[in-house]
Amino acid sequence: MRETSQGAEHAGSSASDVAAQALSRWADEPGPLLPILHEIQDTLGYIPGEVVPQIAQGLNLSRAEVHGVVTYYHHFRTERPARHNLQVCRAESCRAVGGEALYRQALQRAGCDEHGAAGHGGRSADGSLQVEPVYCLGLCAASPAVMVDGRLHARMTPARLDALVDGLEDSQ
Ligand code: FES
Repeated sequence: MRETSQGAEHAGSSASDVAAQALSRWADEPGPLLPILHEIQDTLGYIPGEVVPQIAQGLNLSRAEVHGVVTYYHHFRTERPARHNLQVCRAESCRAVGGEALYRQALQRAGCDEHGAAGHGGRSADGSLQVEPVYCLGLCAASPAVMVDGRLHARMTPARLDALVDGLEDSQ
């Protein structure tokens, strides 16, 4: 099975198994919902919709309550992540030195510039590249900044961004 950028698919375990393990570990602890969601996402790379009823039942919550928490936090994904994740900073410091052009370029490389123009990023049709806007990566002194599969890259240029994406394509 192919690995994702955000977490390898748990070999031999279904989403339900992963959720059951997280429930057994955290259900009796105070405030168990967030640790359970984190554990599931760390293992699977996202929170599959099919585990929401299971978590709700295990914690004696409504499905709406669990769903509400999953969708409230931007951190939690409800879709399987793309193989590669490219975050482009759109906050002030990066914006002042070409961050917006880099964001548009990244979307173009993913073939989803129109969808991403609304500000939510986008995913390539083949599921290989997810582009996400972020609002400060903590590298303001070395703007513009991007993060590729969890690795920060400072003082980004259009040519370097192209080379980074080319490298991702070559590694697939
Ligand atoms: S504003 Fe882009 S890294 Fe801080």
